[in-house]
Amino acid sequence: MTTRQGAEAQRIDHLFDAAEARFDRWRILLKACQQWAATVGTKQAAARKTACEGLLGGILPAEDFHAYPGARLLATLKDRMDGDDAVGATRLVQRISLALMMRSYRRDAAEWDADDEPTGHGAAQPLPTTESGGRPYFEVLYVMPTPPSKWPTHAQQVRRLRRPQDQFIYEPVFVGNLEDAVLAVLVNPQVQAVVIHEGFPWASTHELPLLREVLGSSLGVDPSSEAAGDHGLQLARVIKSIRPEVDLYLLDDCRPEDVVSDPAASGLRRVFYAVEEPLEIHLAILEGVDERYRTPYFDNLKKYAQKPIGTFHALPIARGKSVFRSDWIRDMGEFYGPTLFLAESSATTGGLDSLLEPTGNIRLAQDAAARAFGADKVFFVTNGTSTSNKMVYQALCQPGDIVIVDRNCHKSHHYGCVLAGAQPYYVEAFPLTAYSMYGSVPLRTIKKALLDLKAAGRLDRVRMIALTNVTFDGHMYDTRRVMEECLAIKPDLVFMWDEAWFGFGRFNWLYRRRTAMGAREQLREYFADPRSLEAYLEQEKVFGADLDPRDPRLLDARLVPDPRVARIRVYQTNSTHKSMSSLRQGSMVLVGDQDFHHHEAPFHEAVFTHASTSPNLQIIASLDVARRQMELEGYELVTHAIALAIEIRRDVNTHPLISKYFRVLDPAEMIPAEFRPSGLASYTEKGVTWAQALEAFRHDEFVLDPTRLTIVCGTAGYDGTQFKEILAAEYGIQLNKTSRNSVLLQTNINNTRSDVANLLRVLVEISRKIDASLEESGAPAQAAFRQRVRSLMEDVPGLPNFSRFHDRFRTDPAGSTLEGDMRSAFYLAYREECCEHLKLDDPEVDRRIKDGPLLVSANFVIPYPPGFPIMVPGQVIEADTIEFMRKLDVKEIHGYDSALGLKLLRPDALA
Ligand SMILES: Cc1ncc(COP(=O)(O)O)c(C=O)c1O
Repeated sequence: MTTRQGAEAQRIDHLFDAAEARFDRWRILLKACQQWAATVGTKQAAARKTACEGLLGGILPAEDFHAYPGARLLATLKDRMDGDDAVGATRLVQRISLALMMRSYRRDAAEWDADDEPTGHGAAQPLPTTESGGRPYFEVLYVMPTPPSKWPTHAQQVRRLRRPQDQFIYEPVFVGNLEDAVLAVLVNPQVQAVVIHEGFPWASTHELPLLREVLGSSLGVDPSSEAAGDHGLQLARVIKSIRPEVDLYLLDDCRPEDVVSDPAASGLRRVFYAVEEPLEIHLAILEGVDERYRTPYFDNLKKYAQKPIGTFHALPIARGKSVFRSDWIRDMGEFYGPTLFLAESSATTGGLDSLLEPTGNIRLAQDAAARAFGADKVFFVTNGTSTSNKMVYQALCQPGDIVIVDRNCHKSHHYGCVLAGAQPYYVEAFPLTAYSMYGSVPLRTIKKALLDLKAAGRLDRVRMIALTNVTFDGHMYDTRRVMEECLAIKPDLVFMWDEAWFGFGRFNWLYRRRTAMGAREQLREYFADPRSLEAYLEQEKVFGADLDPRDPRLLDARLVPDPRVARIRVYQTNSTHKSMSSLRQGSMVLVGDQDFHHHEAPFHEAVFTHASTSPNLQIIASLDVARRQMELEGYELVTHAIALAIEIRRDVNTHPLISKYFRVLDPAEMIPAEFRPSGLASYTEKGVTWAQALEAFRHDEFVLDPTRLTIVCGTAGYDGTQFKEILAAEYGIQLNKTSRNSVLLQTNINNTRSDVANLLRVLVEISRKIDASLEESGAPAQAAFRQRVRSLMEDVPGLPNFSRFHDRFRTDPAGSTLEGDMRSAFYLAYREECCEHLKLDDPEVDRRIKDGPLLVSANFVIPYPPGFPIMVPGQVIEADTIEFMRKLDVKEIHGYDSALGLKLLRPDALA
């Protein structure tokens, strides 16, 4: 981030891998010091010492933003270098770099000691972890107008406030201006709270061109305000937009009560009068972190498990006696340990609360999740987002309502329509035929659907639009723009964002703006800004108050809603278990709907319909804990996952051997250029900066989640399924999705650099084997390999679009809109006399497609991969779908029994 790192600072991963880059710099310095120490007394020593000093010079600026090793240890190190003490310097660098890697400085006071034989207690100043006893450690950023020479004294004052009964322990970090404060919050994930003393200047003494660009262009910080007086509220706003979970405290020595009434102060946790009792601030900091740390449900479950409880209700496994006393199933008890059974109960008393009607700890846990994820309300769900989605459909849609839905979305949406009686209006994502997958639905397509429905006089029946953000393969919508433009056409439209894969997106500034709730926040701010009405009135002059759906300009115009009438109604579902530390099936429904009060009762009905009356307590507890983790270390974990993904992208695509056979697809290959006006083609291309990535995230219609890594394996002669099996069976590497010629990997909050190294090792080994076998084999085998690659990469089936519903299932068969009564088709198929089967290769199939009567699907047919329904109940089957089915080389096709063939609705049943 700092200039002294030269060209390196321009790299896109430089912000994301700040932590790793820091470790690397210390390790490089250690190596250099060791070389210096080894040459002491020789001619090379002076040059080696200069090298060490240069490296330390490169390290120092970034260390300003971290508590450890801190000014004292760094000064000692510098003294040792200046005094030609190569051995002493090496020892200290070794200790520091190890402490950083192992995080031992958070627990062990000795790590802060400048002596080589530290006592841990003999240091001149109180050290942070002396009495910590394993208490969680964090850092607090102090933004001070005082000169740096005063900061060591301030630090001592802060440390003196520690009390043995404190639940946490923290170390202070000091900066003296707004830009450094922003940088510290970005690069130091340990910062959990910021204490802002008014009166500090704006500009950093570091050179930060990228940061300045981003502050100005993306975070809306007006550089002209640099000249103005106090920057405290401005800084608070920027920090909240980067890391909303961080607690902010403002110290003002004028009139704090005036500050509080400024709307910009809403992000502050507390405002203090500057000379107030520092202990108050200390206690407020601890309380703020405790609020995030507290897990109401999990905490209570732990207490419950310790109580001696006699159970006379169902669930004999609770308390484990039936397990541990048994000769036959005791191994289960030994495997899971007694705690699991002690924490099992079917009771809803004793603070365990009821998921179906939460009034106690579950409710508190859900409220904490709402805070963490930026929603108004959260429902915990213990059987996956498959269920969350169906709940949303049931709660929001009535029979006959129209839902505009991506046909390529998860099957729970399609079943949700069937259950709710909602009529799907399928819209198509852009195809990526070369890789047998779909992207996302272009906004133009969505607007066209709404305008067509308006033209047909059916807009009032449109209840909701449901889209997947991000898709399995990583395509991310411009959620705000989609909502804004749709609301311009239908101001009360409900948005249902399936973020099954994207729950973690909230915890990184790059992603947050594109999450459902992040976009809702932006929309709320925008609607509150008088400029939104001005923009609307300008549009009204051009297009009128009631948009004419036949006006072709509307599809290309950037529409804006009327903020006086538009309602912000956003729902998000996420599989917490897919991206956070929740047990499998842990999922949440996030509600950000200003009209939720109209749906509260239906939502409770949906919970009653779908939630088990015996929900799994461990899943509920893990949802609570997953929230705690993300609020306290989500920023660090997600940033790290992005860094690892970028490392894999770069290493695979530039490795001389691996890249002969494999390649990770870049944004340019996953998103057509028309949807990428920023021109960002790759995350790893030389010269691409994170400021450019942020621009793409701000403006492009779609961006690619860098953590979703599509690796093309067809070029190595493997189809996706084959390659997945090889990785799992021979190398112990698991991944979840494949296509005809690719596999999908994702980096997650649990991945480490060792995982990356292992993946690369495996890819090298496989590439080497392919190389060797091609070299050893003769020309015919080589030609066969080339032929196989060609077949996998070029002979790819076209992806069939949704055709249409049979007229029997359309309210207005003569009309132009596509929605259909899928539920009637679905239940018609329950009557055996209404169904028939035709084998896929039966010539009758082709004859009927050509001459009729129409082939109409009786059920959903969903091949895995790609995982979207190529047929839905009531859909007219056309030639491209049959061709696709015939070319499919996957084994798992839900809804299709190859022994019987296609299940169809009989023509006479459709008459
Ligand atoms: C987009 C999407 N939505 C919903 C789901 C269902 O989630 P769960 O497995 O939590 O039921 C999935 C599962 O893969 C999915 O990909």
